[in-house]
Amino acid sequence: MLILLLLTISSAKAQEAGGGGGGGGGGGGVIDVVAKFGAKADEKTDLSKIAFNRIENFKLSGAGVFDGQGTTAYKRKGCEKHNFCGSLPINLRFDFLTNAMIQGVTTKDSKQFHINVLGCKNITFEHFTVLAPGESPNTDGIHIGRSDGVNVLNTKIKTGDDCVSIGDGTKNLVINGVTCGPGHGISIGSLGLFKNEEPIDGVTVKNCTLTNTSNGVRIKSWPGAEPGTCSNIHFEDITVTNVSSPIIIDQKYCPWNKCKINEESKVKLSNISFKNIHGTSALPEAVKIICSATLPCENVELADIEITHSGPTGPAVSQCSNVKPKVSGKQNPAACSAPVPANPTPTS
Ligand SMILES: *[C@@H]1O[C@H](CO)[C@@H](O)[C@H](O)[C@H]1NC(C)=O
Ligand SMILES: *[C@@H]1O[C@H](CO)[C@@H](O)[C@H](O)[C@H]1NC(C)=O
Ligand SMILES: *[C@@H]1O[C@H](CO)[C@@H](O)[C@H](O)[C@H]1NC(C)=O
Ligand SMILES: *[C@@H]1O[C@H](CO)[C@@H](O)[C@H](O)[C@H]1NC(C)=O
Ligand SMILES: *[C@@H]1O[C@H](CO)[C@@H](O)[C@H](O)[C@H]1NC(C)=O
Repeated sequence: MLILLLLTISSAKAQEAGGGGGGGGGGGGVIDVVAKFGAKADEKTDLSKIAFNRIENFKLSGAGVFDGQGTTAYKRKGCEKHNFCGSLPINLRFDFLTNAMIQGVTTKDSKQFHINVLGCKNITFEHFTVLAPGESPNTDGIHIGRSDGVNVLNTKIKTGDDCVSIGDGTKNLVINGVTCGPGHGISIGSLGLFKNEEPIDGVTVKNCTLTNTSNGVRIKSWPGAEPGTCSNIHFEDITVTNVSSPIIIDQKYCPWNKCKINEESKVKLSNISFKNIHGTSALPEAVKIICSATLPCENVELADIEITHSGPTGPAVSQCSNVKPKVSGKQNPAACSAPVPANPTPTS
């Protein structure tokens, strides 16, 4: 169950102006989530059915905490190895909203994804907080799919899975001023697993800080399987501290042995830049750009990369396959200077 702590959420209002199916009427006005959904800060009222659906000019703000009470679910056996926990409730769903603003709210201990954004147009998360332990499985902070014009600004995300995960059909996404960690970092994909995936076009990740995460900025797609495209993706001004894989394109993404690893990905990646990315890596493989042999990555740029690694496993290295990046500025490690192992280690 999803409960609400702190009554300050009573200032949270969903303003509805015309045409919204979710509010049951066309005449505009204001929905108060306390009245409409029975939200109470009594730590008992179950809000699991809250989902915000088909509303225009929606605004949710205040200092409220949506608490998914997931700590018992995290211990369920099997969760850590596959999507077993996928049927559990998502803390907050924003479906088919137009011109929406989510400010100041906190989501805590969701049983799986904290926030799911689907089919939205022009939605902004600002001064938003996600809190869950590093060992909570499948608890992506904000998952975005099939949406145009999403902004995630000045937000703090501590969780067990991806900080922000970006699914197919995402267009014109801006992530700025986000701090991540613990968790799996900022990820586009995975792509190419399902039929009829829509293109990803236009993602800017800027001025973000990742600490103790397993990835920094990542694009991942499955070998074999389905076609797709992902283009115009820009990562800029990123600080990484003790991140296992700070810069990673992985077109051999294959956790849980769910694919034919010897096939090539059919997802085409193009127009991708990594600029001014600096800090420390927890593993030597600081830069890993593994593209598809049948559809090599096109127009990839690496500019001003400065990532160091220290430890018994040696200094930071940069690996590339099926890509010829345009390189400029500082490059530490030297771009694409290390051999790529035949069987890359699976990541999650
Ligand atoms: C986007 O939504 C915000 C409300 O969150 C609104 O103020 C702004 O005008 C919208 N932008 C466009 C281009 O419609
Ligand atoms: C960079 O991000 C921080 C939050 O981490 C924010 O306060 C600052 O305004 C952002 N700077 C710019 C230029 O967007
Ligand atoms: C990073 O992880 C280590 C080990 O778990 C922990 O000691 C350290 O406090 C973490 N750093 C931050 C900034 O969370
Ligand atoms: C770095 O991260 C690793 C695991 O990802 C952790 O074991 C280690 O304690 C961290 N080190 C620091 C200095 O935070
Ligand atoms: C890649 O960038 C070039 C130059 O900016 C542009 O002409 C081209 O349409 C882009 N490709 C895609 C697939 O968007």
